[in-house]
Amino acid sequence: MTSPDVQTPRDSALLRAARREEVPFTPVWFMRQAGRSLPEYRAIREDVSMLESCRTPDLVTEITLQPVRRHGVDAAIFFSDIVVPLMAVGVDLDIVAGTGPVVAHPVRTRADLERLPELTPEHVPDISESVRRLVADLGATPLIGFAGAPFTLASYLVEGGPSKNHERTKALMHGDPGLWSDLCARLAQISLAFLRVQADAGASVVQLFDSWAGHLSRADYLRHVEPHSRSVLSGMAQSHPEVPRIHFGVGTGELLPQMAEAGADVIGVDYRVSLADAVERTGGRYAVQGNLDPALLFAPWDALEQRVREIVEEGRQAPGHIFNLGHGVLPSTDPDVLTRVVELVHEVSRR
Ligand code: CP3
Repeated sequence: MTSPDVQTPRDSALLRAARREEVPFTPVWFMRQAGRSLPEYRAIREDVSMLESCRTPDLVTEITLQPVRRHGVDAAIFFSDIVVPLMAVGVDLDIVAGTGPVVAHPVRTRADLERLPELTPEHVPDISESVRRLVADLGATPLIGFAGAPFTLASYLVEGGPSKNHERTKALMHGDPGLWSDLCARLAQISLAFLRVQADAGASVVQLFDSWAGHLSRADYLRHVEPHSRSVLSGMAQSHPEVPRIHFGVGTGELLPQMAEAGADVIGVDYRVSLADAVERTGGRYAVQGNLDPALLFAPWDALEQRVREIVEEGRQAPGHIFNLGHGVLPSTDPDVLTRVVELVHEVSRR
Protein backbone atom coordinates (compact mmCIF):
# COMPACT_ATOMS: atom_id res chain seq x y z
CA MET A 1 0.00 0.00 0.00
CA THR A 2 2.63 2.46 -1.13
CA SER A 3 1.64 5.78 -2.73
CA PRO A 4 2.66 6.13 -6.39
CA ASP A 5 5.10 8.97 -5.61
CA VAL A 6 7.12 6.77 -3.23
CA GLN A 7 10.11 5.38 -5.13
CA THR A 8 12.39 4.07 -2.41
CA PRO A 9 12.08 2.73 1.13
CA ARG A 10 13.68 5.96 2.36
CA ASP A 11 10.60 7.93 1.21
CA SER A 12 8.12 5.42 2.61
CA ALA A 13 5.57 6.29 5.29
CA LEU A 14 7.36 3.98 7.74
CA LEU A 15 10.73 5.69 7.37
CA ARG A 16 9.08 9.10 7.50
CA ALA A 17 7.27 8.23 10.72
CA ALA A 18 10.50 6.86 12.23
CA ARG A 19 12.26 10.12 11.31
CA ARG A 20 9.35 12.06 12.82
CA GLU A 21 8.36 13.66 9.51
CA GLU A 22 4.90 14.25 8.00
CA VAL A 23 3.29 11.06 6.68
CA PRO A 24 0.54 10.53 4.08
CA PHE A 25 -1.03 7.85 6.35
CA THR A 26 -0.07 5.90 9.46
CA PRO A 27 2.21 3.03 8.44
CA VAL A 28 1.38 -0.40 9.86
CA TRP A 29 3.11 -3.76 10.23
CA PHE A 30 2.77 -6.55 12.81
CA MET A 31 5.37 -8.27 14.92
CA ARG A 32 5.32 -11.98 13.93
CA GLN A 33 3.34 -11.12 10.79
CA ALA A 34 5.23 -13.96 9.09
CA GLY A 35 4.35 -17.14 10.89
CA ARG A 36 1.80 -19.62 12.03
CA SER A 37 -1.27 -17.41 11.54
CA LEU A 38 -0.76 -17.87 7.76
CA PRO A 39 -1.79 -21.15 6.06
CA GLU A 40 0.81 -20.48 3.33
CA TYR A 41 3.50 -20.33 6.07
CA ARG A 42 2.32 -23.56 7.70
CA ALA A 43 2.44 -25.27 4.30
CA ILE A 44 6.07 -24.25 3.72
CA ARG A 45 7.15 -25.19 7.24
CA GLU A 46 5.53 -28.63 7.17
CA ASP A 47 8.77 -30.54 6.53
CA VAL A 48 11.42 -27.98 7.48
CA SER A 49 12.60 -27.05 10.97
CA MET A 50 12.40 -23.42 12.09
CA LEU A 51 16.17 -22.92 12.17
CA GLU A 52 16.75 -24.65 8.85
CA SER A 53 14.13 -22.45 7.23
CA CYS A 54 15.89 -19.36 8.67
CA ARG A 55 19.14 -20.37 6.93
CA THR A 56 17.61 -21.16 3.51
CA PRO A 57 17.34 -18.02 1.35
CA ASP A 58 14.54 -19.41 -0.87
CA LEU A 59 12.40 -20.02 2.22
CA VAL A 60 13.38 -16.83 4.05
CA THR A 61 12.47 -14.67 1.09
CA GLU A 62 9.16 -16.43 0.42
CA ILE A 63 8.08 -16.39 4.10
CA THR A 64 9.10 -12.74 4.55
CA LEU A 65 7.06 -11.69 1.50
CA GLN A 66 3.90 -13.67 2.37
CA PRO A 67 2.37 -11.14 4.80
CA VAL A 68 3.33 -8.21 2.56
CA ARG A 69 1.40 -9.75 -0.34
CA ARG A 70 -1.53 -10.87 1.76
CA HIS A 71 -2.05 -7.93 4.12
CA GLY A 72 -0.54 -4.96 2.27
CA VAL A 73 1.51 -4.02 5.33
CA ASP A 74 3.93 -1.08 5.02
CA ALA A 75 7.05 -3.06 5.91
CA ALA A 76 8.45 -6.54 5.73
CA ILE A 77 10.25 -7.95 8.75
CA PHE A 78 13.14 -10.23 7.93
CA PHE A 79 12.16 -13.83 8.66
CA SER A 80 14.70 -15.11 11.14
CA ASP A 81 14.97 -15.46 14.89
CA ILE A 82 16.92 -13.75 17.67
CA VAL A 83 18.88 -16.98 18.24
CA VAL A 84 20.04 -17.33 14.60
CA PRO A 85 23.29 -15.37 15.15
CA LEU A 86 24.04 -17.51 18.23
CA MET A 87 23.54 -20.64 16.17
CA ALA A 88 25.75 -19.12 13.46
CA VAL A 89 28.69 -18.73 15.86
CA GLY A 90 28.31 -22.33 16.96
CA VAL A 91 25.94 -22.39 19.94
CA ASP A 92 24.17 -25.77 19.99
CA LEU A 93 20.49 -24.83 20.17
CA ASP A 94 17.10 -25.67 18.78
CA ILE A 95 13.75 -23.93 18.51
CA VAL A 96 11.14 -26.25 19.95
CA ALA A 97 7.62 -25.65 18.63
CA GLY A 98 5.33 -24.25 21.31
CA THR A 99 8.28 -23.69 23.68
CA GLY A 100 10.93 -21.52 22.06
CA PRO A 101 14.73 -21.62 21.92
CA VAL A 102 16.44 -24.39 23.91
CA VAL A 103 20.23 -24.26 24.44
CA ALA A 104 22.08 -27.58 24.86
CA HIS A 105 24.92 -26.24 27.05
CA PRO A 106 23.89 -23.13 29.01
CA VAL A 107 26.48 -20.35 29.49
CA ARG A 108 27.17 -19.89 33.22
CA THR A 109 30.94 -19.73 33.71
CA ARG A 110 33.92 -17.82 32.34
CA ALA A 111 34.95 -20.97 30.44
CA ASP A 112 31.46 -21.12 28.84
CA LEU A 113 31.79 -17.49 27.77
CA GLU A 114 35.23 -18.14 26.26
CA ARG A 115 33.61 -20.70 23.98
CA LEU A 116 31.25 -18.03 22.56
CA PRO A 117 32.99 -16.43 19.56
CA GLU A 118 32.39 -13.01 18.03
CA LEU A 119 30.18 -12.89 14.93
CA THR A 120 31.71 -11.97 11.59
CA PRO A 121 29.90 -11.59 8.24
CA GLU A 122 31.53 -14.89 7.18
CA HIS A 123 29.33 -16.70 9.71
CA VAL A 124 26.15 -15.55 7.94
CA PRO A 125 26.59 -15.26 4.14
CA ASP A 126 23.07 -16.69 3.74
CA ILE A 127 21.62 -13.78 5.74
CA SER A 128 23.27 -11.23 3.42
CA GLU A 129 21.98 -13.12 0.43
CA SER A 130 18.42 -13.35 1.74
CA VAL A 131 18.35 -9.64 2.60
CA ARG A 132 19.75 -8.62 -0.80
CA ARG A 133 17.16 -10.71 -2.63
CA LEU A 134 14.35 -9.37 -0.48
CA VAL A 135 15.33 -5.76 -0.91
CA ALA A 136 15.34 -6.26 -4.68
CA ASP A 137 11.86 -7.87 -4.57
CA LEU A 138 10.35 -5.37 -2.15
CA GLY A 139 11.02 -2.23 -4.18
CA ALA A 140 9.78 0.77 -2.19
CA THR A 141 8.54 -1.32 0.75
CA PRO A 142 11.10 -1.17 3.57
CA LEU A 143 12.67 -4.27 5.07
CA ILE A 144 13.10 -4.26 8.85
CA GLY A 145 16.20 -6.06 10.06
CA PHE A 146 16.38 -7.14 13.69
CA ALA A 147 18.40 -8.67 16.49
CA GLY A 148 17.85 -9.69 20.09
CA ALA A 149 19.21 -7.30 22.72
CA PRO A 150 21.99 -8.55 25.02
CA PHE A 151 19.74 -9.13 28.06
CA THR A 152 17.11 -11.16 26.22
CA LEU A 153 19.78 -13.24 24.46
CA ALA A 154 21.64 -13.73 27.76
CA SER A 155 18.47 -14.96 29.39
CA TYR A 156 18.13 -17.79 26.82
CA LEU A 157 21.83 -18.66 27.09
CA VAL A 158 22.03 -18.63 30.88
CA GLU A 159 18.69 -20.30 31.59
CA GLY A 160 19.14 -22.77 28.73
CA GLY A 161 15.66 -21.98 27.43
CA PRO A 162 12.57 -19.85 28.02
CA SER A 163 12.14 -18.72 31.61
CA LYS A 164 9.31 -17.26 33.68
CA ASN A 165 11.43 -15.73 36.41
CA HIS A 166 14.92 -15.41 34.89
CA GLU A 167 16.37 -16.58 38.21
CA ARG A 168 19.68 -17.97 36.95
CA THR A 169 20.17 -14.88 34.79
CA LYS A 170 19.58 -12.52 37.71
CA ALA A 171 21.74 -14.66 39.98
CA LEU A 172 24.62 -14.30 37.53
CA MET A 173 24.01 -10.57 37.05
CA HIS A 174 24.25 -9.98 40.80
CA GLY A 175 26.57 -12.82 41.80
CA ASP A 176 29.30 -12.20 39.23
CA PRO A 177 28.78 -8.75 37.72
CA GLY A 178 32.15 -8.93 35.93
CA LEU A 179 31.26 -12.12 34.08
CA TRP A 180 27.74 -10.80 33.41
CA SER A 181 29.13 -7.62 31.89
CA ASP A 182 31.61 -9.53 29.72
CA LEU A 183 28.86 -11.88 28.54
CA CYS A 184 26.60 -8.95 27.63
CA ALA A 185 29.49 -7.19 25.88
CA ARG A 186 30.05 -10.29 23.73
CA LEU A 187 26.32 -10.51 22.98
CA ALA A 188 26.27 -6.81 22.09
CA GLN A 189 29.06 -7.47 19.58
CA ILE A 190 27.04 -10.35 18.09
CA SER A 191 23.81 -8.31 17.90
CA LEU A 192 25.53 -5.31 16.38
CA ALA A 193 27.38 -7.40 13.81
CA PHE A 194 24.11 -9.16 12.89
CA LEU A 195 22.30 -5.83 12.45
CA ARG A 196 25.18 -4.45 10.35
CA VAL A 197 25.09 -7.47 8.04
CA GLN A 198 21.39 -6.81 7.43
CA ALA A 199 21.81 -3.05 6.99
CA ASP A 200 24.81 -3.51 4.67
CA ALA A 201 22.68 -5.81 2.51
CA GLY A 202 19.91 -3.20 2.30
CA ALA A 203 17.60 -3.39 5.34
CA SER A 204 16.34 0.17 5.82
CA VAL A 205 15.18 0.02 9.47
CA VAL A 206 16.31 -2.13 12.40
CA GLN A 207 14.50 -3.29 15.52
CA LEU A 208 16.30 -4.36 18.69
CA PHE A 209 14.10 -6.84 20.61
CA ASP A 210 14.65 -6.75 24.37
CA SER A 211 11.52 -8.80 24.89
CA TRP A 212 12.16 -9.75 28.50
CA ALA A 213 13.62 -6.44 29.80
CA GLY A 214 10.27 -5.74 31.49
CA HIS A 215 11.29 -8.29 34.14
CA LEU A 216 13.98 -5.90 35.43
CA SER A 217 13.86 -3.08 37.94
CA ARG A 218 14.88 0.29 36.55
CA ALA A 219 18.04 0.24 38.68
CA ASP A 220 19.11 -3.16 37.37
CA TYR A 221 18.23 -2.18 33.82
CA LEU A 222 20.35 0.96 34.01
CA ARG A 223 23.32 -0.65 35.71
CA HIS A 224 23.48 -4.09 34.13
CA VAL A 225 21.70 -3.93 30.78
CA GLU A 226 21.33 -0.46 29.30
CA PRO A 227 25.08 0.10 28.62
CA HIS A 228 25.15 -3.00 26.41
CA SER A 229 21.95 -2.17 24.50
CA ARG A 230 23.34 1.35 24.12
CA SER A 231 26.50 0.00 22.55
CA VAL A 232 24.42 -1.88 19.94
CA LEU A 233 22.23 1.13 19.14
CA SER A 234 25.08 3.66 19.09
CA GLY A 235 27.16 1.30 16.96
CA MET A 236 24.35 1.29 14.40
CA ALA A 237 23.98 5.08 14.63
CA GLN A 238 27.68 5.42 13.81
CA SER A 239 27.88 2.95 10.94
CA HIS A 240 24.37 3.42 9.48
CA PRO A 241 23.03 6.84 10.55
CA GLU A 242 20.36 6.69 7.83
CA VAL A 243 18.84 3.49 9.28
CA PRO A 244 16.29 4.28 12.03
CA ARG A 245 16.40 2.18 15.20
CA ILE A 246 13.30 0.76 16.92
CA HIS A 247 13.75 -0.49 20.51
CA PHE A 248 11.06 -2.84 21.84
CA GLY A 249 10.29 -4.83 24.97
CA VAL A 250 7.26 -6.35 26.68
CA GLY A 251 5.99 -4.92 29.98
CA THR A 252 8.54 -2.10 29.75
CA GLY A 253 6.22 0.78 30.66
CA GLU A 254 8.46 1.67 33.60
CA LEU A 255 11.58 1.57 31.39
CA LEU A 256 10.35 3.51 28.36
CA PRO A 257 12.47 6.65 28.92
CA GLN A 258 15.60 4.60 29.55
CA MET A 259 15.00 2.38 26.53
CA ALA A 260 14.37 5.40 24.30
CA GLU A 261 17.44 7.24 25.57
CA ALA A 262 19.60 4.16 25.02
CA GLY A 263 19.75 5.30 21.39
CA ALA A 264 16.39 4.65 19.71
CA ASP A 265 14.49 6.72 17.16
CA VAL A 266 11.28 4.78 17.80
CA ILE A 267 10.16 3.26 21.09
CA GLY A 268 8.05 0.11 20.99
CA VAL A 269 5.04 0.29 23.31
CA ASP A 270 3.15 -2.77 24.48
CA TYR A 271 -0.60 -2.68 25.11
CA ARG A 272 -0.30 -2.08 28.86
CA VAL A 273 0.69 1.57 28.41
CA SER A 274 -1.27 4.03 26.27
CA LEU A 275 0.55 5.75 23.42
CA ALA A 276 -0.26 9.08 25.08
CA ASP A 277 1.50 7.97 28.28
CA ALA A 278 4.41 6.63 26.26
CA VAL A 279 4.81 9.99 24.51
CA GLU A 280 4.68 11.80 27.83
CA ARG A 281 7.16 9.45 29.50
CA THR A 282 9.65 9.89 26.66
CA GLY A 283 9.37 13.67 26.59
CA GLY A 284 7.71 13.85 23.16
CA ARG A 285 11.08 13.34 21.50
CA TYR A 286 10.64 9.85 20.04
CA ALA A 287 8.35 8.21 17.53
CA VAL A 288 6.21 5.42 19.02
CA GLN A 289 5.32 1.99 17.67
CA GLY A 290 2.30 0.01 18.83
CA ASN A 291 0.15 -0.88 20.58
CA LEU A 292 -2.94 -2.98 19.86
CA ASP A 293 -3.38 -5.90 22.26
CA PRO A 294 -2.90 -9.03 20.07
CA ALA A 295 -5.78 -10.69 21.96
CA LEU A 296 -8.19 -7.97 20.71
CA LEU A 297 -7.86 -9.45 17.21
CA PHE A 298 -10.21 -12.14 18.58
CA ALA A 299 -12.87 -9.61 19.71
CA PRO A 300 -15.99 -8.73 17.68
CA TRP A 301 -15.10 -6.42 14.77
CA ASP A 302 -16.97 -3.40 16.20
CA ALA A 303 -14.93 -3.48 19.40
CA LEU A 304 -11.70 -4.03 17.52
CA GLU A 305 -12.48 -1.24 15.07
CA GLN A 306 -13.13 1.20 17.87
CA ARG A 307 -9.81 0.35 19.54
CA VAL A 308 -7.88 0.66 16.25
CA ARG A 309 -9.42 4.10 15.67
CA GLU A 310 -8.47 5.19 19.19
CA ILE A 311 -4.87 4.07 18.72
CA VAL A 312 -4.59 5.91 15.38
CA GLU A 313 -5.99 9.04 17.07
CA GLU A 314 -3.60 8.78 20.01
CA GLY A 315 -0.74 8.22 17.59
CA ARG A 316 -1.44 11.60 16.02
CA GLN A 317 -0.21 13.20 19.28
CA ALA A 318 3.18 11.52 18.88
CA PRO A 319 6.06 12.99 16.86
CA GLY A 320 5.73 9.86 14.69
CA HIS A 321 3.56 6.74 14.92
CA ILE A 322 4.00 3.27 13.44
CA PHE A 323 0.90 1.15 14.06
CA ASN A 324 1.68 -2.35 15.36
CA LEU A 325 0.56 -4.82 17.98
CA GLY A 326 1.78 -4.64 21.57
CA HIS A 327 3.49 -8.01 21.00
CA GLY A 328 3.51 -10.69 18.30
CA VAL A 329 0.56 -12.06 16.32
CA LEU A 330 -0.87 -15.09 18.14
CA PRO A 331 -0.76 -18.26 15.99
CA SER A 332 -4.54 -18.80 16.03
CA THR A 333 -5.32 -15.27 14.77
CA ASP A 334 -7.61 -15.10 11.73
CA PRO A 335 -5.36 -13.58 9.03
CA ASP A 336 -8.35 -11.86 7.39
CA VAL A 337 -8.75 -9.78 10.54
CA LEU A 338 -5.15 -8.58 10.17
CA THR A 339 -5.84 -7.54 6.58
CA ARG A 340 -8.92 -5.60 7.70
CA VAL A 341 -6.91 -3.84 10.40
CA VAL A 342 -4.32 -2.72 7.82
CA GLU A 343 -7.09 -1.35 5.58
CA LEU A 344 -8.75 0.41 8.50
CA VAL A 345 -5.52 2.03 9.74
CA HIS A 346 -4.83 3.34 6.24
CA GLU A 347 -8.39 4.57 5.75
CA VAL A 348 -8.80 6.41 9.04
CA SER A 349 -5.31 7.91 9.07
CA ARG A 350 -5.09 9.18 5.47
CA ARG A 351 -4.29 12.88 5.51
O1 CP3 B 1 7.35 -12.00 11.57
C1 CP3 B 1 8.28 -11.69 12.35
O2 CP3 B 1 8.11 -10.98 13.36
C2 CP3 B 1 9.70 -12.10 11.96
C3 CP3 B 1 10.21 -13.26 12.53
C4 CP3 B 1 10.58 -13.41 13.98
C5 CP3 B 1 10.59 -14.68 14.57
N1 CP3 B 1 11.14 -14.58 15.82
C6 CP3 B 1 10.13 -15.91 13.92
C7 CP3 B 1 9.70 -17.03 14.76
C8 CP3 B 1 11.08 -12.51 14.92
C9 CP3 B 1 11.24 -11.01 14.82
C10 CP3 B 1 11.43 -13.27 16.08
C11 CP3 B 1 12.06 -12.68 17.27
C12 CP3 B 1 12.04 -13.45 18.52
N2 CP3 B 1 12.31 -14.78 18.71
C13 CP3 B 1 11.88 -12.86 19.79
C14 CP3 B 1 11.65 -11.41 20.03
C15 CP3 B 1 10.23 -11.07 19.71
C16 CP3 B 1 9.24 -11.42 20.75
O3 CP3 B 1 8.37 -12.26 20.44
O4 CP3 B 1 9.31 -10.88 21.85
C17 CP3 B 1 11.99 -13.88 20.75
C18 CP3 B 1 11.84 -13.71 22.24
C19 CP3 B 1 12.27 -15.08 20.06
C20 CP3 B 1 12.51 -16.44 20.63
C21 CP3 B 1 11.47 -17.37 20.13
N3 CP3 B 1 11.53 -17.99 18.89
C22 CP3 B 1 10.21 -17.71 20.70
C23 CP3 B 1 9.73 -17.25 22.05
C24 CP3 B 1 9.54 -18.53 19.78
C25 CP3 B 1 8.13 -19.08 19.87
C26 CP3 B 1 8.06 -20.49 20.31
C27 CP3 B 1 6.69 -21.06 19.96
O5 CP3 B 1 6.65 -22.00 19.15
O6 CP3 B 1 5.68 -20.54 20.46
C28 CP3 B 1 10.38 -18.70 18.67
C29 CP3 B 1 10.07 -19.46 17.45
C30 CP3 B 1 9.66 -18.64 16.31
N4 CP3 B 1 10.33 -17.53 15.85
C31 CP3 B 1 8.55 -18.88 15.45
C32 CP3 B 1 8.59 -17.89 14.47
C33 CP3 B 1 7.66 -17.73 13.29
C34 CP3 B 1 7.59 -20.04 15.58
C35 CP3 B 1 8.23 -21.23 14.99
C36 CP3 B 1 7.28 -22.07 14.19
O7 CP3 B 1 6.63 -21.54 13.26
O8 CP3 B 1 7.23 -23.28 14.46
